[in-house]
Amino acid sequence: MTSVAIVTGASSGIGAATARRLAREGFHVLAAARRADRLADLVAGIERAGGSATAVTCDVTSDESVAGLATAAAQAPGPVTLLVNNAGGARGLDPVESGSVGDWQWMYDVNVLGTLRVTQALLPALESSGAGTIVVVSSTACFTVYEGGGGYAAAKHAQTAVAGTLRLELCGRPVRVVEIDPGMVRTDEFGLVRFDGDADRAASVYAGVAEPLVAEDVADCIAWCATRPHHVNIDRLVVRPLAQAAQHKVHRVG
Ligand SMILES: NC(=O)c1ccc[n+]([C@@H]2O[C@H](COP(=O)([O-])OP(=O)(O)OC[C@H]3O[C@@H](n4cnc5c(N)ncnc54)[C@H](OP(=O)(O)O)[C@@H]3O)[C@@H](O)[C@H]2O)c1
Repeated sequence: MTSVAIVTGASSGIGAATARRLAREGFHVLAAARRADRLADLVAGIERAGGSATAVTCDVTSDESVAGLATAAAQAPGPVTLLVNNAGGARGLDPVESGSVGDWQWMYDVNVLGTLRVTQALLPALESSGAGTIVVVSSTACFTVYEGGGGYAAAKHAQTAVAGTLRLELCGRPVRVVEIDPGMVRTDEFGLVRFDGDADRAASVYAGVAEPLVAEDVADCIAWCATRPHHVNIDRLVVRPLAQAAQHKVHRVG
């Protein structure tokens, strides 16, 4: 029977690439995000490529909306074996002394409480599959800090704490927990969201970097972790572009 994978934040970037990749791996994908039009395009593309997917409009900051995702999962054509908690992002690059409380609140709500809410809602289905996997897409900001990144780093540190705690609490039950920590990934919208639509500022993050990671690189890591034999638990996978040796050490040309 076809296994079902749920990907949050599937309407763009890493989530969309992961949905496409998991469909190629043979999963029926439930693609969840707020923008229904984007999800419809994604599902159409997956189906054209021979895969199968269902769009589920879902806001991970809403209990009711996440309950709808769980209902969609219960109606999916197979056991739910994989949840990819990918919805998230950054807002602002302001120092702690002047950062917007609203931005910090948004980052905590989406990255941390979104992961909590969706995981709680889908855990019974994952466990009853007998071979569940929960992937948490955190960031290298989960273990290091940088100027202006306080709110994002705080949220990603917290998201990582959720993943680690969950792995301990689920020990002995048939659900593994995998954390993916990407460094610099050039996606279309991450920077636009962070810099409130300022395309030049968003592009400047990648200036002179010949080959930042792209969404498909991270999707490849997620797919690899999720398709290991179920007794193999990749606790944490840190992935950066070759040009980024550390958060502060990026090789730029020109
Ligand atoms: N790009 C990077 O450099 C990078 C590096 C490390 C980690 N990450 C992490 O990777 C993940 C994906 O990032 P990305 O670069 O692919 O960014 P992105 O293109 O901006 O994608 C973010 C996704 O999250 C969804 N989302 C936002 N708020 C949501 C909500 N309330 N409910 C449901 N979905 C919501 C968005 O869809 P809707 O707007 O349609 O809801 C979108 O599909 C994030 O967790 C990010 O923190 C990114």
